[in-house]
Amino acid sequence: MRILVLGTGGREHALSWKIAQSPLAEAVWASSVVADAEPGLKSIPEFPDAAACAAFCAAQSIDLVVIGPEAPLVAGWSDVLRASGLAVFGPDARGARLEGSKIAAKEFMRKYGIPTADFVVCRDLEEVRGHVGRFGAVPVVKYDGLAAGKGVAVPSTIGEAVAFAGEGFTRGGQTRLLLEERLTGPEISLLAITDGRRVHLLPPSQDHKRLGEGDLGPNTGGMGAYTPVPGCDPARLAELERIVFEPFLAGVAEEGFDYRGLIYAGLMLTEAGPSVLEFNCRFGDPETQPLMCSMDGDILPLLWSAAIGRLASRGMDTQASLCVVLASRGYPADPRTGDEIHGLEEARLMPGVKIFHAGTRREGDRGEAGRFFTRGGRVLGVTGVGETLTLAAAAAYAAVDKIHFPGMQYRRDIGARALSPQE
Ligand SMILES: Nc1ncnc2c1ncn2[C@@H]1O[C@H](COP(=O)(O)OP(=O)(O)O)[C@@H](O)[C@H]1O
Ligand SMILES: [Mg+2]
Repeated sequence: MRILVLGTGGREHALSWKIAQSPLAEAVWASSVVADAEPGLKSIPEFPDAAACAAFCAAQSIDLVVIGPEAPLVAGWSDVLRASGLAVFGPDARGARLEGSKIAAKEFMRKYGIPTADFVVCRDLEEVRGHVGRFGAVPVVKYDGLAAGKGVAVPSTIGEAVAFAGEGFTRGGQTRLLLEERLTGPEISLLAITDGRRVHLLPPSQDHKRLGEGDLGPNTGGMGAYTPVPGCDPARLAELERIVFEPFLAGVAEEGFDYRGLIYAGLMLTEAGPSVLEFNCRFGDPETQPLMCSMDGDILPLLWSAAIGRLASRGMDTQASLCVVLASRGYPADPRTGDEIHGLEEARLMPGVKIFHAGTRREGDRGEAGRFFTRGGRVLGVTGVGETLTLAAAAAYAAVDKIHFPGMQYRRDIGARALSPQE
């Protein structure tokens, strides 16, 4: 089978690397950032649109396209690629609206009985002022459209809530937004591969969104993640399958979505039970990095069978895995690029370690002893794997300690909550 993975981040490096290990994979194409870092992968150009991608796939006799990021999914690339006869892992544009519109997602959840925080849709600031007091506590404010992690505020005062909403309507260009009841509890990410009729749950994972240790500082694309999440046992997973994913599938059928791809539920485990904070329509970044490392079996039959609408779900042994993101100086506000990365070669050879590239540039031809430079905010995802999270974390941080570049930022406390015995 010939597979093309769309997208340029660490998530796509992890997916391409894992897919390429399959005995069924004859050749794997990935973005140049990924292909330059991973021997054996073929490089793709940047496609201006889905039609250009389809033409490339036809020329290269590609069988399966795996779409990594949300933007092309929301823009309908799956629909175009499928219409050209390709098998595609990624929902159609209508299914992707579960991520592309937070309001569409909340309305879907309400309609199909998926547990989620109470909410109200507001069309202007007057409506916001009218509704902001209705939840008892200060509500969470969410912009409707894709906002790269900047569209949600968890304000501590009504004034802040109204101000964030006002920003959304003016500078943010939003025409509608959500006020949502504020919940509390630990968060987990639960990802499932689906053909639209059945789901194959992946182990639960947890990411770390804030830049600083102790979950302080600005929001980022994600500074680390790990899997599994202690305490999230098989009984809990079975419950989540029943109360979240079964109604999700019922909704997909009823709405007629062509949902062949990944469904990601961002969950909060509240005292009153689990609640869905959001759906994403693709693999998480960086959750995918530890998920791919933790999986002992072959992922390609899962992706392929979902893409052709006949999901072949089967049990798979998994280990623990933990990913530490190394970010450049100034990230996330104003990341500096062009710094040389040292120690990669040594770190790469350490046992139980896999390094995924998210924002690097290779100097010289491929195949040459590589010199890598930073070229983005999130630069590397240093991922450890082991029988336990403690071993996975030790492997990841031992490798992190070998790598440096000027201004390198990372968190030393990835997985701390899972590793500390008192919590
Ligand atoms: N109803 C809520 N109550 C409390 N916190 C929330 C609520 N909704 C979202 N959050 C917090 O805001 C974060 C971002 O919200 P989310 O819906 O996941 O949007 P996005 O990931 O697109 O920014 C969540 O991870 C969670 O910490
Ligand atoms: Mg989220």
